[in-house]
Amino acid sequence: MARHLITSAIPYINGIKHLGNLVGSQLPADLYARYLRGRGDEVLFLCATDEHGTPAELAAAKAGKPVDEYCAEMWAVQADLAKGFNLSFDYYGRSSSDQNRKLTQHFASVLYDNGLIEERMETQMYSHADGRYLPDRYIEGTCPNCGFDSARGDQCDNCTKQLDPVDLIDPRSTISGSTELEMRDTKHLYLLQSKLKDDIDQWIDSQTGWPVLTTSIAKKWLHDGDGLQDRGITRDLDWGVPVALGDKPWPGMEGKVFYVWFDAPIEYIACSQEWSDATGGDWARWWRTDKGADDVRYTQFMGKDNVPFHTLSFPATIIGSGEPWKRVDYLKSFNYLNYDGGQFSTSRGRGVFMDQALEILPADYWRWWLLSRVPETSDTEFTWDNFQTDVNKDLADVLGNFVSRVTKFCRSKFSEDVPAGGEWGDAETTLIADLQTRLTAYEAAMDGIEIRKAAGELRAMWAAGNEYLQAAAPWTLFKTDPDQAAAQIRLALNLIRIYAVLSAPFIPTASAKLLSAMNTLDMEWPSDMNAAVQALPEGHAFNVPDNLFDKITDEQRDEWAERFAGTRD
Ligand code: 2FM
Ligand code: ZN
Repeated sequence: MARHLITSAIPYINGIKHLGNLVGSQLPADLYARYLRGRGDEVLFLCATDEHGTPAELAAAKAGKPVDEYCAEMWAVQADLAKGFNLSFDYYGRSSSDQNRKLTQHFASVLYDNGLIEERMETQMYSHADGRYLPDRYIEGTCPNCGFDSARGDQCDNCTKQLDPVDLIDPRSTISGSTELEMRDTKHLYLLQSKLKDDIDQWIDSQTGWPVLTTSIAKKWLHDGDGLQDRGITRDLDWGVPVALGDKPWPGMEGKVFYVWFDAPIEYIACSQEWSDATGGDWARWWRTDKGADDVRYTQFMGKDNVPFHTLSFPATIIGSGEPWKRVDYLKSFNYLNYDGGQFSTSRGRGVFMDQALEILPADYWRWWLLSRVPETSDTEFTWDNFQTDVNKDLADVLGNFVSRVTKFCRSKFSEDVPAGGEWGDAETTLIADLQTRLTAYEAAMDGIEIRKAAGELRAMWAAGNEYLQAAAPWTLFKTDPDQAAAQIRLALNLIRIYAVLSAPFIPTASAKLLSAMNTLDMEWPSDMNAAVQALPEGHAFNVPDNLFDKITDEQRDEWAERFAGTRD
């Protein structure tokens, strides 16, 4: 049995995530995890909240709460929304865990022993108005690389370049807006990534078949300009993993913490330890190549702004440690989802947020739209029109209608049992062959994490059932040849089970409803379509399910478009 480790980029704790965040990592990761489990593979699927650094401090200050309290509350909110969207994490951890603190301090210590961490005096921005240093998100200004005027101190959202606060042109404090900033000397630790450049370069070259988006971003920061830069990995902040040499204090670094992007990816490992501690699992089997993790295929999911940290910084930590850690095998990255002519934005409250989405429609509606339109090869846009059209067509008219017609017709003309009688002929053979071909394409797309393609194949399998039914017209045939109509309906009822199994990664709630209506626990993957269309035998009892999907009306569409046109607090 193949073993798959899957991680989703861990969302910042600073508030409820919007649909752009969801589709950029957690949701596609869930799709893949569910698919692999459906195929019978062993999966460990992990996610956590990213709780350190300036995003957490700023959000807690805005909420008027101590940062630890804010993080604990917001973790519970995010975990609950993850459940609401049916994200099937094996564990939802916290980067502020003891496990992550210990492991982060461990990595710092071995990297130091290996000559890859250096203490440097550096200049940081100090704000008199705020009485403190302004690292990362406490400062904004113009990007020296692309000219974007709201680049943050740690990264430009527009061009993805990693930055230092002192790089910004016209910097200002995001706390007070003050521009009276002074450059002050302060001691920090640097990870000497430049020494690891060749190792990282070779490792990336040895990876085959990674998305172009992933490798192009990695190569850009490896080779453009002066190449891979050493990175400051500590900050003058109160909240975070205290700087320490393993479990010993680090002289001269008292009161400082590690940079959030140093400890956040380490949480992928620490989260598996949290999972082990909570469940009795064996984390090392997934993460240590000396403990069996060589057999694991490790896939990471993230938005494109996260790619530099996962292709360069985190690998520098892992490779530089010289320890036998599992490295990522496939790194799936996504472009951005835009909202109705602009960007989704957490800070400006623009777009639809996870809690709001679930208030108006169940998760499956969103899952289907977001996944079938996932921004794989370019940025894509959410509009209420597209959403209404796709949901009504794909889910209500094609899948929902098929299920409703077949089950209701059977109940009214035969009974709520799979009907006996009749034989399958050419039309059925053709349909089964078509489904077999589409299934092979669906599997190839899912194996290769080509999500839009996979959604297209699934949709085509739903449509094939509908077209068959339309052409066979059992409701007409029933009058002259009820046996033949029974054979057609027997096939169609079996298709409902097959659709439930194949659709489960996309729309798990509807899938469970269909299986329950078909009165079966048989989730066997329909690898052999000829066998799969006979899984529900003659006489097998079923129930007519409630309507699977309601259509979105024009009134609802307009009301939601108006309701979500502004910004939330
Ligand atoms: O962009 C983000 O939301 C970050 N919190 C992702 C961190 S992923 C990781 F490395 F842990
Ligand atoms: Zn930029």
